[in-house]
Amino acid sequence: MRVYLDNAATTPLDPEVVSAMTDVLSNYFGNPSAQHAIGRNAKGKMEVARRQIAELINAKSSEILFTSGGTEADNIVIRSAVYDLGIKHIITSPIEHHAVLSTVEEMHNKGLATMHLVEINALGEINLDHLKQLAAEFPESLISLMHANNEIGTLLDLKKVADIAKAHHCLFHSDTVQTIGHYKIDVQELGIDFIACSAHKFNGPKGSGFLYIRNIHKLKPIITGGGQEKNMRAGTENLYGIVGLAKALEIANKAIAEETIRLQSLKLLMRTLISQSIPGALFNGPSTDLNSLYTVLNVSLPPNEIGNMLLFKLDIEGVCASGGSACSSGASTGSHVLAAINHPADRTGLRFSFGKYTTEADIRFAVEKLKTVLLN
Ligand SMILES: Cc1ncc(COP(=O)(O)O)c(C=O)c1O
Repeated sequence: MRVYLDNAATTPLDPEVVSAMTDVLSNYFGNPSAQHAIGRNAKGKMEVARRQIAELINAKSSEILFTSGGTEADNIVIRSAVYDLGIKHIITSPIEHHAVLSTVEEMHNKGLATMHLVEINALGEINLDHLKQLAAEFPESLISLMHANNEIGTLLDLKKVADIAKAHHCLFHSDTVQTIGHYKIDVQELGIDFIACSAHKFNGPKGSGFLYIRNIHKLKPIITGGGQEKNMRAGTENLYGIVGLAKALEIANKAIAEETIRLQSLKLLMRTLISQSIPGALFNGPSTDLNSLYTVLNVSLPPNEIGNMLLFKLDIEGVCASGGSACSSGASTGSHVLAAINHPADRTGLRFSFGKYTTEADIRFAVEKLKTVLLN
């Protein structure tokens, strides 16, 4: 038996998504930019996908820019905000995904914009008072804060941040890669400027995602050399990926209410079983409450002899999970997120993440194997 509890890294494709993509690969090979019927058919398919996605987040079709996934979407916002929108200050947090953090650091190191890090607490929650202070001190900044942390699952109240951004004339971008398809997101209701999405986090294909850009923001292309995506992103479009993305989002959105309840209870079951059977086990992030992504459980294991071999041993026992320890000074690897929440370097962080194919049997199996590896 093998159980897959690494859905925050990526998810298996839904067969319905595969079939929508296969249909495109077999029957819509045309170049969407071509003027003839075969090209126009491909273009039509792409625009239907764009409209479906826009409707699901309450945006306009013209506000959806297809990308190769979350990393590209995050990069485009940050770079374009600095290059095209006159942004001189970026407010972000130390626990953002590297797609955001490394890009902001690059802007800072090149002297193009100044990075300001908002304080977080030991659960990875943003200090909103500090955010207000920074926004007041640096109005007209770009605020880039993720909706849910991919390692420890801490959730952010997007509406509260959007209101702070508005009050100080800041732009607000959120990396919603871990939450689109798992939470209902309405860009109008939130009043957000940019969000990033990646299809492979909700049973869609890898290498396909989108950036939502509020219509009033006029960005210039980062990738040049063609007029695709209304001159915003050159290159022949990944049509099967785009159709797979739209199909996956449609399926995921329909199941949100049900999956929230089902996976939240599996997560709590795993938390309880681990607490009962592994002495000294703790949990990173606000793991029990609603401020926590229901697809992620991050366990903090007490110092043990297995150390770095833990994931490898679990893998041998048939459990796919992920994790890391806090970066210690001088070490090139490790988790910047665990380091930022002051997770002790001698404890091991282990992330289990759940998805639509996760069952109670998977959870029980994984906890048994964790016990075998740690306690025998
Ligand atoms: C929060 C977050 N942002 C961005 C990304 C990058 O997305 P992609 O793999 O589509 O480039 C990931 C994927 O791990 C993620 O978890």
